[in-house]
Amino acid sequence: MKVLGIESSCDETGIAVLDVDTGEMHQRLYSQIERHREYGGVVPELASRDHVVKAAPMIEEILQEVGGVKQIDGVVYTRGPGLMGALMVGACIARGLAWALDKPVLGVHHMEGHLLAPMLSEQKPEFPFVALLVSGGHTMLVDVQAMGCYKILGESLDDAVGEAFDKTAKLLGLPYPGGPELAALASTVSSTELKFPRPMVDRPGLDFSFSGLKTFALNTMHKYSPLSEQSRAEIAFAFEQAVVDTLQIKCQRALKQTGYCRLVVAGGVGANQRLRQRLQQMSKKLDAQVYFPALEYCTDNGAMIAYAGGMRMSAGLFDINVSDVLPRWSLEDLPGLP
Ligand code: KG4
Ligand code: ZN
Repeated sequence: MKVLGIESSCDETGIAVLDVDTGEMHQRLYSQIERHREYGGVVPELASRDHVVKAAPMIEEILQEVGGVKQIDGVVYTRGPGLMGALMVGACIARGLAWALDKPVLGVHHMEGHLLAPMLSEQKPEFPFVALLVSGGHTMLVDVQAMGCYKILGESLDDAVGEAFDKTAKLLGLPYPGGPELAALASTVSSTELKFPRPMVDRPGLDFSFSGLKTFALNTMHKYSPLSEQSRAEIAFAFEQAVVDTLQIKCQRALKQTGYCRLVVAGGVGANQRLRQRLQQMSKKLDAQVYFPALEYCTDNGAMIAYAGGMRMSAGLFDINVSDVLPRWSLEDLPGLP
């Protein structure tokens, strides 16, 4: 079975065709980052318009690559969560195409796509596992018992971790999206006397709070103003250390609470090298295993949507009479696989 996957929840247009039986994947990715950079963040209306322009030619190109539209047995797309207008573009294209081809269509949960992205690697995690989802819009720890059986163990009470990276980077004068820029600046130093807090680690539970770290960074910047290059780098370093420590402490707690020995890290911030190193060290100490998606599958892409949707569709799930998108949608509301 071959499915066409369409991702358009935010500022990346991702198109993929997955052969569910062989695992063969074809994909295209277009990032709108340059378009949004001058505004310092994603402008929803511009995002929708760009998806309208880019999605159809990308689909045409990929269909040619796989031997034409007749090869497609179903269409899957991101139904939510995400930006309403951007989601609607992908949904309309997917439903229109499926209707014209008389093939099934299925709306996919964006975060399920992220948390199953490590399944696209050679070394796949077995169920059950703890998933740490860290993106621009979400920070959560999830108990993944099986595909579709998700229990949220903890989440951010305010800013998502990627959002905290982006906002702090902006304060430091770095361009959007700030996460990788801040990480690059932090890597120019190897220590600092600056001590940032580790939010909520001394409280029980698995929730997070990152907005205070951004304020702490701002106050530190005022204290050392005017900032030298060295001070900017040390603030970035101290911020990144605080985030990585906090995430590691909560991951360790989640593994202990569930009794699981596998941790899956997914979402854009999963590309962060310092986080990867720290979680690898932790897993060695705990005799657990940590799985990361390939770097190209950490940030938004069509392949993860084709995978999550393809698995659901090959289990017989598809949408009937669905005409909305779900900008807010909990992972816990997803049906399990039959
Ligand atoms: O998953 P994603 O592509 O989009 C959402 O669904 O939100 O994640 C994007 C987020 C951005 O906030 C970006 O700054 C962050 O991931 N990010 C990073 C790194 N690469 C991307 N944050 C820290 N370090 C990185 N290397
Ligand atoms: Zn995402």
